[in-house]
Amino acid sequence: MLIPKDLTKKASVRLKQVKTESDFFKIRSEFLGKKSVIQKSFQALRKLPQSEKIKTAKKLNLIQSDLSLIFNNFANELRSTVNFQPIDISLPAFQEYGSAHPISKTIDKILAYFEHLNYQTFFGNEIETDWYNFGALNFPDDHPARQMHDTFYIDSKSKKGYLLRTHTSNTQIHSMLDQSAPIYMLSAGRVYRCDSDTTHLPMFTQIEGLAVDKDISFVDLKGIIIDFLQYFFDRKMDVRFRPSYFPFTEPSAEVDIKFGTSGWLEVLGCGMVHPNVLSTCQINPKLYSGFAFGLGVERLAMLYYGVKDIREFYASNLDFLNQV
Ligand code: DAH
Repeated sequence: MLIPKDLTKKASVRLKQVKTESDFFKIRSEFLGKKSVIQKSFQALRKLPQSEKIKTAKKLNLIQSDLSLIFNNFANELRSTVNFQPIDISLPAFQEYGSAHPISKTIDKILAYFEHLNYQTFFGNEIETDWYNFGALNFPDDHPARQMHDTFYIDSKSKKGYLLRTHTSNTQIHSMLDQSAPIYMLSAGRVYRCDSDTTHLPMFTQIEGLAVDKDISFVDLKGIIIDFLQYFFDRKMDVRFRPSYFPFTEPSAEVDIKFGTSGWLEVLGCGMVHPNVLSTCQINPKLYSGFAFGLGVERLAMLYYGVKDIREFYASNLDFLNQV
């Protein structure tokens, strides 16, 4: 029987062509696997006379161990390079998970407060009809308050068609039409306006709150807003209710908080639900009253995290996002 010649030399030459881990395993199986020349030689031993068997087997064993040595050395070298690190499946999984965006964290924190008080939370639709966004909220067709809410109309020829909602107050109407009083609801989501500077974005996030029940008064509204702001900023806050105007609430107020050296800063709008709005939603204003409020999430997040430019939240800058 012929002893295979130059196997170790051939293996060394072939190993020079290895580029990937799988190249290595392929070549190793060529030289040491079941169908390799050396294994075939071992199988052929059976046919040899006893006298030759031992002698030949010794030679084959030597060649096989030389080959194993070459492959083992090569594998050790490979493992020391980054791409061929063995995988230790017993190690814990890679730890760098993504994390919640600061605006999502702020939403969650706000929702948690109201969920604790048993408010139902839901997400309304961002594409809305003029009626839900304005009409049902007591905005007359030609009322100047609409101007502050100039938005993106889906069909420019028909301003009465669909639009991107300018506030989350549309969800007040949906929730009052969908269920009967008492209602305690909170709704977070994106809203759109033609606005863009360091404190305004064309797309931003609002949270709307609505409570409709018997005997709800402005005192309930004040109490909950003051308590909420104290919870949100983790400290007692100076809060001011400043009379204001919104078509869907009467009386209406804007709420300011005293913030460090910046003085009074507006954080939300609120008021008692206008009787016209209750009637439109088939709720008897003589039996029920309600309060509503709407707050800007980015605004609160800016104050909470000390962010000066609202655009930072959406610039996808990891240096910024990792800090907040
Ligand atoms: N929707 C108002 C806005 O975006 C904010 C607001 C004011 C919401 C008073 C309310 C409210 O629910 O009662 O400017």
